[in-house]
Amino acid sequence: MYSLMVSTFGGGPTKEIFLDAANVGELEKKYLCECIDSTYVSSVGENIGKFENKFASYLGTKRAVSTAVSTQSGTSALHLALYELGIGPGDEVIVPVITFIATVNPIKYVGATPVFVDVDPDTWNVDPNEIEKHITKRTKAIIPVHLYGNPCNMDKIMSISEKYNIPVIEDATESLGATYKGKFTGTFGIMNAFSFNGNKIITTGGGGMIVTDDEKKAEHLKFLVSQARDVSRGYYHTEVGFNYRMTNLEASLGLAQFERLPEFLNKKRTFAKIYKEGFKGNDKITFQESYEDTQSSYWLSSIKIESSKSIPQIQEELKEKGIPTRRIFVPIVEFPPYREYKKEEYTNAYEIYEKGLNLPSSTLNDEEQIEYVVEVLSSVI
Ligand SMILES: Cc1ncc(COP(=O)(O)O)c(C=O)c1O
Repeated sequence: MYSLMVSTFGGGPTKEIFLDAANVGELEKKYLCECIDSTYVSSVGENIGKFENKFASYLGTKRAVSTAVSTQSGTSALHLALYELGIGPGDEVIVPVITFIATVNPIKYVGATPVFVDVDPDTWNVDPNEIEKHITKRTKAIIPVHLYGNPCNMDKIMSISEKYNIPVIEDATESLGATYKGKFTGTFGIMNAFSFNGNKIITTGGGGMIVTDDEKKAEHLKFLVSQARDVSRGYYHTEVGFNYRMTNLEASLGLAQFERLPEFLNKKRTFAKIYKEGFKGNDKITFQESYEDTQSSYWLSSIKIESSKSIPQIQEELKEKGIPTRRIFVPIVEFPPYREYKKEEYTNAYEIYEKGLNLPSSTLNDEEQIEYVVEVLSSVI
């Protein structure tokens, strides 16, 4: 039925299909207007603390209640986590070679060296065996990334962390709401980063969060994000701090989005189910697989395609039918600042990059549109 509607309008769907666009509406408007009316639009205001507390109690673990410190972005959250651990020149940090550049650049910000490892061919997440192979005396942190919302093998990663006494900083920027053995991603590491960029599971326009069970660290992070200002002494700064605070305006948006998180997760998981059922039996398509007892947030539903057509060619044909897609992240060692690494070591990453595709996953879409994507993609390949 949907394709009939589509053909009536000359090949494009009547309602735009979105890859990862933000879903903001009346509740967000209400909270934003209230914030503007209060005049507390900047770095002071009650919504910042409210948002942090809600976030922390949502993620609260059995061991301890998490503490959340809001930031300007996921990138600044990762930067601060590395900084707080005292990582610097001469230190090495292990990261997967497939991720967004923002996982890696903060390692450079603190003057340390990223050590890239290949990913598992099925889950596309950092391969724990590869992590262990790359540990040296200089390794000071491991940053697993729950790629596209799919939880990493945290049992193995945490046991490596304990064995070698190397802290883990989870990059949970894409995996809010995802669980590994019943526990939320972003609650395993010593300090973990979330992102509220416009295309993420919830958005504050731009923003992030660091989550930790270590209250002392949280307190210090709160101080650091605010120019390391000792408020009791006025404008007095005892350390070199950062301006990495979230604003009250952003936190208002965050509060509204957070109320809608169950709706967003439910939609993303439903879309993933439609894709999986729709492509069942299609031997040209494989999905990013999950580890046992995990639940992905399905930030972006992602597949690998075996076809005589290249991924850009498939993308072009989908685009003509009104379907936006995105390629898998380019392996980081392709980029000029990171070219001294040997590409040959990352065969799984390159294979995923060559064949992988992110499918429309925005919660602005509806189920009919996702079924249309299945139908069109099946005929294109
Ligand atoms: C894997 C990964 N790490 C880090 C970030 C950085 O987050 P932000 O854009 O909020 O700085 C993002 C998202 O953009 C991401 O996808």
